[in-house]
Amino acid sequence: MPLTTGDRGSQTTESERWRPIHYLGSKLRILDNIRKAVNDLSTERSPVCDLFAGSGTVSAALAQDRRVTSVDVQEYARVICSAILQPACFDVERFLARALDAKDVATRNGLLWAAEPLVQYETRCLEAAAIGNLEPLCELLEAGSLVTISNDRINSLSAELAKAIIQTNARLNSVDLNDTVQSVALRHFGGTYFSFRQAAELDILLNEIAQLPLHAQDIGKASVLSTASQIVNTIGKQFAQPLRPRNKNGTVKKTLHKLVSRDREKDTFLEFKKAIDKYMSIKRTAFEHKAIRADYRDFITKLEGFNGVVYADPPYTRDHYSRFYHVLETLALRDNPKVSVNKAHGRTMLSRGVYRLERHQSPFCIKSLAPDAFSNLFQALALNGNPLVLSYSPYAAEKNAHPRVMKVEDIEPLARKFFSLVEIRVSENISHSRLNKTELNKEIAKNAEILFVCRP
Ligand SMILES: C[S@@+](CC[C@H](N)C(=O)[O-])C[C@H]1O[C@@H](n2cnc3c(N)ncnc32)[C@H](O)[C@@H]1O
Repeated sequence: MPLTTGDRGSQTTESERWRPIHYLGSKLRILDNIRKAVNDLSTERSPVCDLFAGSGTVSAALAQDRRVTSVDVQEYARVICSAILQPACFDVERFLARALDAKDVATRNGLLWAAEPLVQYETRCLEAAAIGNLEPLCELLEAGSLVTISNDRINSLSAELAKAIIQTNARLNSVDLNDTVQSVALRHFGGTYFSFRQAAELDILLNEIAQLPLHAQDIGKASVLSTASQIVNTIGKQFAQPLRPRNKNGTVKKTLHKLVSRDREKDTFLEFKKAIDKYMSIKRTAFEHKAIRADYRDFITKLEGFNGVVYADPPYTRDHYSRFYHVLETLALRDNPKVSVNKAHGRTMLSRGVYRLERHQSPFCIKSLAPDAFSNLFQALALNGNPLVLSYSPYAAEKNAHPRVMKVEDIEPLARKFFSLVEIRVSENISHSRLNKTELNKEIAKNAEILFVCRP
């Protein structure tokens, strides 16, 4: 029988309550409830696995009391969790001095020099938009990024924009930076998700981080990911689609200048400094934490010898995280991916969202696969004797949000098939209530989060 530890260590301090990236389904709001559930199921200091760790908020909260293993299939999640759990020594001032030098060189004869025609054109578009002429900015946003814009499309653009694109491409070629990893943020995401300047600056930071010893790279990369999440110019700060400058009826949005300038005028290096200071301020612990990139299906086959609690927070809508955060994945992997295509009206075009090819498709996001995905998870953990705290979100509280892939009422019997005790707790307004099945249907408030507390 596991030792019940009551409220020990359930309170999350302000410094542990930090959002490294804006993340759909982040559990920042219910950290105390999760800590309490994990404490209730565990012996003091027994290890915990944060399966589906995402932005690492739960790992960060649990890491102060016990050894944490974070697991997620996305590389950006591994990088962030690694920076949170095992922050390497990092000489911030020295790195920033080097990065500023690299920026100077890039401005004279490197990436920023190559990007200059588009950087300057974008500045002029924003200046024009500030005094009411929105069309040039609208055209720039609709043109897409360097990697997706076709020659046909260039011919249909205004002469000034076409010239800026052609000059930038020519300059990139002249400094051997076209189609290389060193310019991937600029070519894929400049103009779409970030200003051209910000995108080139993200590349400069990543290029400098790649020169660091391996053990220091995760904290540098994680700070770039936090920066990208902070400066991205989209509604909701995800990367599912770039901003649309027009209303549904085709007119340009009146608020366009405000929508664009609020993010694109942010200073990349300043945001990076804030992020790295934050990672550096995370309290070090004596535990040997680990951050792993793995599919949960592989991870659960290797549980033997792990005798701790598992906290699992799988996706609950049909939106694949790999689509919503593909930009972070490319920045974290630092590769030069091919871009996926869309077919419309008999034409094949590179995706407007500049999605990378071969994105992970999670079975939890696919209605026909989700029941088996849950069953396999429950079975593997119960067989290995691991208690489980499972998060699930019962309602689509956000306007226009996609429905949940599975209903809480359908997950519960699956859990009962494998665990001897399953308790359902509702976090938020009716915190820690224990509900029976009928109550479950009527009582759960909008915005509520469910915790299944399962004992083998
Ligand atoms: C609801 S989010 C987790 C949020 C996290 N608890 C937080 O607070 O940021 C779900 C996570 O599951 C991950 N995921 C989806 N399918 C997966 C799979 N097959 N194996 C491992 N991780 C997966 C996604 O990448 C995503 O980060």
